[in-house]
Amino acid sequence: MNNSASQLHIPVMLDEVISGLKVEAGGRYVDCTVGAAGHSEEILKASEPGGQLLGIEADPQAVEVARNRLEKFGSSALLVNENFSNLESICIERNYLPVSGILFDLGISSMQLSQAGRGFSFQSDADLDMRFSPEQELTVYEIVNNYDEAEIARIIYKYGEEPASRRIARNIVKSRPVKTTVELAGVVEKSKGGRRGRIHPATRTFQAFRIAVNKELENLETAIRQAINLLGYTGRLVIISYHSLEDRIVKRILQEESRDCICPSSSPVCTCNHRARVKLVNKKVITPSVQETRLNPRSRSARMRIAERLMTPSESSLNSAGLFLVGLTGCLAGAAGFINFN
Ligand SMILES: C[S@@+](CC[C@H](N)C(=O)[O-])C[C@H]1O[C@@H](n2cnc3c(N)ncnc32)[C@H](O)[C@@H]1O
Repeated sequence: MNNSASQLHIPVMLDEVISGLKVEAGGRYVDCTVGAAGHSEEILKASEPGGQLLGIEADPQAVEVARNRLEKFGSSALLVNENFSNLESICIERNYLPVSGILFDLGISSMQLSQAGRGFSFQSDADLDMRFSPEQELTVYEIVNNYDEAEIARIIYKYGEEPASRRIARNIVKSRPVKTTVELAGVVEKSKGGRRGRIHPATRTFQAFRIAVNKELENLETAIRQAINLLGYTGRLVIISYHSLEDRIVKRILQEESRDCICPSSSPVCTCNHRARVKLVNKKVITPSVQETRLNPRSRSARMRIAERLMTPSESSLNSAGLFLVGLTGCLAGAAGFINFN
C-alpha cells in the first residue's frame, strides 16, 4: 500500500464535511473512519494553525496509507488502529477531550473494495473474508459454511433487506462448501433467477454479510452515543451513511438526543428526565450535489446528518461554577478533569 492507493478513494462531500464540522484554527477533531485520510487531511489543513486530529481506523492497511498521507502534519495528526466502538476510551486514555468535532464516514472505502484479497467485491475472486481488521475472528466463510439456514436467511433479510433471503440461504446451504466471492455471487444470482437491471443480484447479500461480520450497526449505535459524550459545548457531530439501515440508526439517535422528553406519547406526564444533548443542524438529510455524483458515482447514496452539542441544564449549572464536565458519566476519574469552554 502506498500513497497512490489513497488516490483510489475520493472523499465524499468534502466541503460539506468541513463546514458541517465548523472546522476552525486550533480545534480538536476526531475522524472515526480515517480510510485513505481524504477528510482527515482537509480537516488538518482547515484547522491550522494549532489544530489536532485523532484518526481512528480498524483496517491496518488503511492506517498505513493514512500515515503516509498525514506525515507532513507531524504531531498534529495521531492515528490509532482501533475500532470506533472504543471511541470514548481511546479519547480518554489520550486526554483528548473535549472534542470540537467528530466525523463518521461509514462503510468501506473504494481502496478496500479494489483490494482483491479482502473479499468485499464479487467482481474479483477471493476468499470469503470481508473483515475490516484481521484481528476480528468472524469471517463471511464462517457464516456461509457453518451457520444454519435460518440464521443465514435472517442475516440476509435484516442487513440486506433482501426479499429472496430464504431462497438464497437454502441454496447457499445446498452448495456448501462455498469458498470464494465468485462462487457465492453465482449461488445468489441463480437463486434470484439471473441478472436483471444494472445492479448485480448479489449486491444486497454481500452488504448483509459485510455488516454482520463487522457488527457495523451495533458499533455505530455505541459510537454515536459516545461521540455525544465527548463533544464540547457547540462541538459538531457529522455522520455520512451509505444505506438506509445506517441512516435510520443515525436519525433515530440524533432525534432522541435532541428531545427534552423521550417518554412514550401515551405517558400523561414526563417521567424520563431526559434532556436534549444536541440540536439538529440540518432538519433534512444532506445529499451530494449532482455535480459530485457525476464526478464520483460512489457518492450517490451518501446521506449526511449534523448535530451540535448543547449544554444540558445540569451541565449549565456546573459551568456557571466553572466546572463543566462534558457528559462523561462513569468515566470522570479517567477524564481530563475540569474543562473550560470558551
Ligand atoms: C468510507 S471509508 C472512509 C474514507 C475516508 N473518509 C477518506 O476520506 O478516505 C470508511 C472507513 O472506515 C473504516 N471503518 C468502518 N467501520 C469502522 C469501525 N467500526 N472502526 C474503525 N474503522 C472503521 C473502514 O475500514 C474504512 O476504511
